[in-house]
Amino acid sequence: MWYEGHLETWQETPDENTVKFFEENENLGPIDFTKIDDPSVLAGWRDEQDPDWIMDNTKFPWITIDEINVPWKDIYEEANHLLYTACYTLHRPMASGWLSLAIHGISSVHTNCAEDYNLPEDYEQTHSRWTDIADLCPRTKEWMMDEMLYDKFMRVRFMALLPGGWLGAHRDRHKITGVGATNVAINNPDGCEFVMGGWGKVDWVPGVAKKMNTGYEHAVWNRSEEPRIHMIFDGQPGDAFKEQVNRGYARMLGA
Ligand SMILES: [Fe+2]
Repeated sequence: MWYEGHLETWQETPDENTVKFFEENENLGPIDFTKIDDPSVLAGWRDEQDPDWIMDNTKFPWITIDEINVPWKDIYEEANHLLYTACYTLHRPMASGWLSLAIHGISSVHTNCAEDYNLPEDYEQTHSRWTDIADLCPRTKEWMMDEMLYDKFMRVRFMALLPGGWLGAHRDRHKITGVGATNVAINNPDGCEFVMGGWGKVDWVPGVAKKMNTGYEHAVWNRSEEPRIHMIFDGQPGDAFKEQVNRGYARMLGA
């Protein structure tokens, strides 16, 4: 069951800092994306035809990729079954009901980066593979191979936030230039909000993929009655995937 093994760490209300973060940032927006980047970011991609240019240079809080077909209902069914049968592991401190399960990576329970397990820094590069969980998620695995145009998958995780769960305000890196991992919404129940400091709510809908800029402070709070499940992809996107990101960025600019 969802809560099995996790009750001792359950904390009903987010810490004071995260509650304040929501109060201050949740209702910002809507964002005028045309005012964020220097126009050279878009021009750089077109002039230089470098598929990494925008992803490395934008200060956008996220880039929405709207060309990927995501069979999110099928994926949700597989991921939620594993959640319900308590296959997930607690992911990080400063959170409650925040659970993770790797379908690809070092193992299904190695949901953090290699250094956190005293492994060599490049261990994920050299030792990532489909985990035992992949056999239990055939539709998800098939979708990843057919639609997520990655040259190499490394850590690919289901991330679940239980009803009433929260993930405290934090940054995953120090710089705000460039976007990081790809995040795909498998569902996003009403009442669950992903908020970014200075920007407001991220406009998630089920089946949407985004490159996220986690250099901005962010927090998630699931004030709904159902689990919220997303997937996070670390690895090397292929050029076709990068082109999708670049076209998504151009659309956000209305270009
Ligand atoms: Fe984060």
